[in-house]
Amino acid sequence: MEQTKILDPCCGSKMFWFDKNNKNVTFGDIRNEEHTLCDGRTLEIKPDMPLDFRDMPFADNSFKLVVFDPPHLIKAGTRSWLGLKYGILQNDWQDDIRKGFSECFRVLAKDGVLIFKWNETQIKVSELLKLTEQQPLFGHKSGKRMDTHWLTFMGN
Ligand SMILES: C[S@@+](CC[C@H](N)C(=O)[O-])C[C@H]1O[C@@H](n2cnc3c(N)ncnc32)[C@H](O)[C@@H]1O
Repeated sequence: MEQTKILDPCCGSKMFWFDKNNKNVTFGDIRNEEHTLCDGRTLEIKPDMPLDFRDMPFADNSFKLVVFDPPHLIKAGTRSWLGLKYGILQNDWQDDIRKGFSECFRVLAKDGVLIFKWNETQIKVSELLKLTEQQPLFGHKSGKRMDTHWLTFMGN
């Protein structure tokens, strides 16, 4: 696969992408599966390539933009709508996310941009920021309860 400028290493069903087939993006996810949700809609997780954000097969400084939106739920039924859509954190989630941050910054170009998305319904974003030495530059809160954080980092 040709090297793209943008990486989404845990794209899920690409809900936040305007163009879900954007050729400038490498879409990865550890899952490749399809589900019928309880309302009859189909949920497709079909990445361009299988990818584990804890250990990525890319050279250092490869991407100008990385968007990191890992699972944020520790408690959700494995067959629940939320669990299927967003995935579920494992018991050693701190270690997984620490490795994910480290890998995202490794493959990010010098002065490239990393966007991190986190919903803090179950785990505060402050807990997440302890898992990387990098500091976000600025951010934005969204959602009905203002609990979805979008944070911007720059690689160095
Ligand atoms: C919050 S969802 C992403 C939602 C996506 N941004 C969207 O717009 O639909 C998190 C995704 O991370 C994936 N994931 C979990 N562990 C992973 C890992 N180690 N490597 C890559 N993907 C992983 C899950 O399968 C899930 O699809």
